[in-house]
Amino acid sequence: MCGIVGYIGKRDVAPLLLEGLQRLEYRGYDSAGIVITSPKASGLKMVKAKGRVRDLEAKVPKRFAGTTGIAHTRWATHGAPSDENAHPHLDSEGKVAVVHNGIIDNATELRAKLVADGIEFLSETDTEVLVHLVARSQAVTLEEKVREALRHVEGTYGVAVMHADFSDRIVVARNGSPVVLGIGEKEMFVASDIAALVSHTRQIVTLEDGEMATLKADDFRTYTTEGSRTTATPTTVEWEAESYDMGGHDTYMHKEISEQSDAVDRVLRGRIDDRFSTVHLGGLNLDAREARGIRRVKILGCGTSYHAGMIGAQLIEELARIPADAEPASEFRYRNPVVDPDTLYVAVSQSGETYDVLAAVQELKRKGARVLGVVNVVGSAIAREADGGMYVHAGPEVCVVSTKCFTNTVVAFALLALHLGRIRDLSVSDGKRLIAGLRKLPAQIAAILETEEEIKKIAEEYAGAQSMMFIGRVRGYPVALEASLKLKEISYIHAEAYPASELKHGPLALIEPALPTVAIVPDDELLEKNRAALEEIKARSGRILAVAHREQEKADHTIVVPKNETELDPILMGIPLQLLAYHTALAMGRDIDKPRNLAKSVTVE
Ligand code: M6R
Repeated sequence: MCGIVGYIGKRDVAPLLLEGLQRLEYRGYDSAGIVITSPKASGLKMVKAKGRVRDLEAKVPKRFAGTTGIAHTRWATHGAPSDENAHPHLDSEGKVAVVHNGIIDNATELRAKLVADGIEFLSETDTEVLVHLVARSQAVTLEEKVREALRHVEGTYGVAVMHADFSDRIVVARNGSPVVLGIGEKEMFVASDIAALVSHTRQIVTLEDGEMATLKADDFRTYTTEGSRTTATPTTVEWEAESYDMGGHDTYMHKEISEQSDAVDRVLRGRIDDRFSTVHLGGLNLDAREARGIRRVKILGCGTSYHAGMIGAQLIEELARIPADAEPASEFRYRNPVVDPDTLYVAVSQSGETYDVLAAVQELKRKGARVLGVVNVVGSAIAREADGGMYVHAGPEVCVVSTKCFTNTVVAFALLALHLGRIRDLSVSDGKRLIAGLRKLPAQIAAILETEEEIKKIAEEYAGAQSMMFIGRVRGYPVALEASLKLKEISYIHAEAYPASELKHGPLALIEPALPTVAIVPDDELLEKNRAALEEIKARSGRILAVAHREQEKADHTIVVPKNETELDPILMGIPLQLLAYHTALAMGRDIDKPRNLAKSVTVE
């Protein structure tokens, strides 16, 4: 989705902003732009380009000096990708520049009024109304002009504004779309994502919804959109700038798949309590009495996070014996759900910014529900909005498709389930057994990753397929769903995922030699049932790739994964299928880190 980066200080701003935009590329975008000025300059200088940041860079003139600037990567919502629709947008006099993430819901109405007043629009974007509103404001200060303009606007925004007559400052505001300030030594940064900041400063201030800030080179202040001062104490982010580099891998996806052993080690670190065969989850803000009072758990997330939540629901039901289910947050928020005071709601999100999840959390909170967040990005909107929760500590995930965050989120759910279970009826011996299983995970993941060459060969065989089927039963079903999502996201091969138990109820009609099936076949109580499904597919000449704990006779290929405790099996079974999707897409020549039409953080509806 769209990205913002801004700087004010003494350094040459254009290279800094271009580097910041490159760090935001992973979010997905279709055009980019930059506007700069300096205290001595007479106005604003702007360059915009459809395409990649490198296309923008190529258009930037040699003499493009300045010390203040804002820049943007745009992911089209209103108007096609083009130079004109790229941000920044300028007012008619070229004095005001705005970059904006989010959507202005009443843009059509505002545009009609402005056009009736004689304003000529140069783009089809919703954002351009904002720049004209700022320019027309009669207020004296830039802060007041922006505040007045925002009063007319309905919708979501993360916005940064520059004005040629106020070249000593950048004014930013947030409502529903992230804005993060980076505090430096006599220089200030702003971005929509800390990825653009961490190579310059680790001192961060995250704006709240309804908050604005003024950045000057040696100072910043925050205040509400109503004008009252707020206190903002910078926090130090732990993520290293290097975590955003490719680290010798050809793609971020490959890097992130390869990091999973360490990532899982991190989510476990400091949380296991051997004395009581349980785990410490201090951030939940849920005491034992409250935990015992939970009658139901409802998990909400989107895409991969929803799939992780499905596994989480099964773990909670299995270990804590609390009825639990997962639902796409994007559906939940539109169906006027019954919100029950005895239900624990859990919002899952890697980015912590997914709009549908955030909107579901806000609706739940409004109705008085208790909401926990299971989130990767520290300090993100969902993490801050929730009553408590746990970070999954996967480290930055740059690739649009989620891999290590899926795995870490499932492990985080295993910890939550174990915690709730041990407060309720899970025995000490089961607690011990699961803790031992959790401790084995990093080494087992490393062992799976060592089989990459074998998986690559299988993937190259499947790379020509038009379509693929993924099946799994109970614990294996969310694994199948996630594996099929991964494959379709990056290879664009059509993929279906079904519960293996549903095969006979329809999808069996699709089985033929040209449709390979990937079957999740753990050594659990359902092994024989799963084997029967393989028989049915084989009898129809279907090709089978099994992911199993031992060779499957009916399968054309088996990827054997190490056995753990049955409840934890889904954590490991997904990993070879990430590699399968990766190598299939690679063999097909796809742009793996930037799949078409997708964005990393879906911060709009
Ligand atoms: O940041 P989130 O976990 O909230 O994102 C949710 C989905 O948009 C995300 O998982 C999406 O499905 C990814 N492309 C999966 O690879």
